Amino acid sequence: MTDPPRPRACVTGWPVAHSRSPLIHGHWLRTYGIEGSYERVATPPGEFKRFAATIGVGGLRGANVTVPHKLEAFAECDRRTSVAQAMGAVNTLWREGEVLWGDNTDAGGFLGSLDEEAPGWRREVHSAVILGAGGASRAVVYGLLSAGLQRITIINRSIERAEAVAEAFGSRLFISAWSEASNRLGDADILVNTTSLGMNGQDQLRIDISNLKADAIVADLVYVPLETSLIRDARRLGHRTVGGLGMLLHQAAPGFERWFGIRPSVTPELRSLIEADILGHGARSS
Ligand code: ATR
Repeated sequence: MTDPPRPRACVTGWPVAHSRSPLIHGHWLRTYGIEGSYERVATPPGEFKRFAATIGVGGLRGANVTVPHKLEAFAECDRRTSVAQAMGAVNTLWREGEVLWGDNTDAGGFLGSLDEEAPGWRREVHSAVILGAGGASRAVVYGLLSAGLQRITIINRSIERAEAVAEAFGSRLFISAWSEASNRLGDADILVNTTSLGMNGQDQLRIDISNLKADAIVADLVYVPLETSLIRDARRLGHRTVGGLGMLLHQAAPGFERWFGIRPSVTPELRSLIEADILGHGARSS
């Protein structure tokens, strides 16, 4: 009898060379002594269906999905978790029997990073201002609504996209114009930047945060650079701050658990490993 194939998982995207997921999952495979692997698989546009058919074959337990395939991954799934259904996008795939399942772990990843880096926030945070209205914004909105927030204001350069997010997520959502951003901060318990502003190679995020309440939390999903000017300014003003790296690390954990059977921990060692990689590739954007 032949041995069953070793468990494998991968990240797929186009391009995929920039992905840090192999570093994260490789660290966990070593930490837990699992004889498996996690690779990068480049899937060109138009090829996603073919890629999806390989899941469940030859030890491939599942995959993370990144740009530009998250919508197609959603469409390709037979079943989806309720959060993936609400996002309309899938970043984590696995097969149960013949059934291809999809999840979206970004919302949970964001909440995990807040739990780790701003403990107690669930009791204190009732209202949020969120900059941006893309996929990352939707994940943050979903997560914060599920945590019970009463009021979330979306502020985006193009107001139509802010309106679309507000319509999708219901009565606790409000919108405001980009030019009004600073004036909207006064009653927010948390400010979250979900735009790409502040990322290496992009324009800076220019926002006056002096109207924030003294105990407001400031979070930025950008993690290259590790400390954005928003986070630096907020820290100087005495706010609790949450950078974007925690979300990247926490969103990876549910996939690893599904594929390899162990819920992995986000440890200081893992954080240092990824920080070192980011510092070593200063010019790379993600
Ligand atoms: P993601 O899935 O990571 O959220 P996205 O859907 O491309 O990516 O969304 C990018 C976000 O950054 C959007 O909110 C975008 O604003 P628009 O909807 O107006 O495009 C925002 N963004 C990107 N560049 C920006 C800039 N120069 N000024 C203001 N907002 C910007």
